[in-house]
Amino acid sequence: MSTPHNAARMGDIAETILLPGDPLRAKVIAETFLEDAVQFNSVRNMFGYTGTYKGKKVSVMGTGMGMPSIGIYSHELIHFYEVKNLIRVGSCGATSEKTKLGDIIMAQGACTDSNYAHQYQLPGTMSAIADYKLLKTAQETAEKEGFPYCVGNVLSADVFYTETPEWKSWAKMGVLGIEMESYALYCEAARAGVRALGIFTVSDSVVTGEATSAEERQNKFTNMMKVALETAIAI
Ligand code: HPA
Repeated sequence: MSTPHNAARMGDIAETILLPGDPLRAKVIAETFLEDAVQFNSVRNMFGYTGTYKGKKVSVMGTGMGMPSIGIYSHELIHFYEVKNLIRVGSCGATSEKTKLGDIIMAQGACTDSNYAHQYQLPGTMSAIADYKLLKTAQETAEKEGFPYCVGNVLSADVFYTETPEWKSWAKMGVLGIEMESYALYCEAARAGVRALGIFTVSDSVVTGEATSAEERQNKFTNMMKVALETAIAI
């Protein structure tokens, strides 16, 4: 059975999936890091692949940008394809001077300015958090590999080009980085009782305006992928 946005049949997708925002990133990940990768989706060019890493079945699929987009894809992966572990691999902007370009951020929690959780009719606010087991495995892998990383809160923002620098208020609350998807991913996972984690490389800084070079982005991306893949097969 397929969905409006995914042509995969039941069984085509592994229990554990890596989720970059960019579908071409998904293709590169499949070609570079997975063995025997088979493409399961190209609807809307949102490429998805299943292969193996160190002998274990792992999938990778793009999510697009923003919470409405990752909300659709993650919901379908969980509810139509029985995916149990969803690991977002993305980039984020640093919102703190403590966060260095190229560092890995693991999103222990995600704050948001979005209304995504409104649908749950909660009598308060939802603290969207990572799955502890995934987070612990990712942290231990980064530690073992000697990759610079930090663990903390991120802001999943609805707007990239904001009229005013709202991130400054979030930074005062200790938020380390800004991206646009994790809050919805964590809500979808929480609602369904499955595991999710967001891992990011810091691609730019909204504090200083600096950005990483293409070469540095590639190296740091490889580190993040090592963390994500080792976490994917440990779970
Ligand atoms: N804002 C939102 N998302 C991002 C950013 C940013 O500055 N950098 C990388 N992803």
